[in-house]
Amino acid sequence: MNTLKVILFTFLVVGFYSFYANSIPQTESHPPKKISLNAKLSEDEMIEAGERVYSTKGTCGICHAIGRKGSRGPDLNGVGLRAASRKPDVSAKTYLLESLLKPSAYLVEDYAPMMPPMAGILTPGEVMVTVAYLQSLGGKVDITPEDVRSVMQVKASQVSVVPEAVSPASVIEEPVVSATASESLVGDPEKGKAVYNTLCIACHNPDPALAGTIGPEIKGASRDLLEARILRAEYPQAYQPKRDTKIMPPMAHLANDIENLTEFLK
Ligand code: HEC
Ligand code: HEC
Repeated sequence: MNTLKVILFTFLVVGFYSFYANSIPQTESHPPKKISLNAKLSEDEMIEAGERVYSTKGTCGICHAIGRKGSRGPDLNGVGLRAASRKPDVSAKTYLLESLLKPSAYLVEDYAPMMPPMAGILTPGEVMVTVAYLQSLGGKVDITPEDVRSVMQVKASQVSVVPEAVSPASVIEEPVVSATASESLVGDPEKGKAVYNTLCIACHNPDPALAGTIGPEIKGASRDLLEARILRAEYPQAYQPKRDTKIMPPMAHLANDIENLTEFLK
């Protein structure tokens, strides 16, 4: 019974990839990132891997936040529970999967269809662990490490392949998520410098280690700080701002330059 469920679910995942492959030309191709999911992947490790995808390769945090509204997307707090009642007769797992692979199929009220379909960005295994992580936000995690292993065999380009039982060895050989997924996200310091010199030095010092005419020194600013301050004019939780003024305007259009600025300011 369980095996049957896994196989059915695998079909579902494959179906989405098949839909994606048929509907949208694959322009971007990111090389698959590696993290060996070891053969004895536990539920906790699976959720952790999902959290890592969320905060690195998936770039979910550019639009979403957990516990408050994101810069462009809804608060994902409690989404694991909410997912079960979003669409009649659609399980939380299926809804979440759909929201990653075909986000425009259901639009959260008051939001625009701007979330990119993740099939072009994440591997099937990465999508699965991310769904497990989303379920862990208030809901019941019913993705199993076995589900993850079974979709890891699916390549977006080989959508007709439905895996049979998978030996633990092949799990090691077919890695899913990258321990260093941030590799793919490391910004370009030169681009960051260009943005800085164009948009920041009106107030900050051309040398970011020094205080500027209006803004404080910001060398070493973390990615989280830059994201919160630049996109939302906020600070990360528990961060002690250098100044308690509110002069700097939010610049939400810089979402794609946060990584570049982070690298430049290191
Ligand atoms: C470019 C911005 C953007 C990015 C990047 C993005 N999202 Fe979204 N996401 C949105 C928006 C806007 C919505 C609401 C509209 C909709 O439902 O598609 C949304 C909706 C969702 C929903 C449905 C929430 C609900 O309450 O039903 C989930 C789940 C979700 N996103 C997860 C993710 C995850 C996980 C990632 C990263 C892998 C991600 N998103 C990346 C913008 C984004
Ligand atoms: C209009 C002037 C102005 C511009 C333009 C500006 N800033 Fe600021 N920035 C400030 C001021 C002033 C502060 C102190 C808090 C405040 O008053 O908003 C600040 C605070 C910050 C902080 C938080 C420092 C801390 O640790 O508390 C960061 C990070 C930052 N700016 C980065 C940038 C970057 C990157 C840019 C360019 C993309 C930029 N700022 C553009 C004026 C500006």
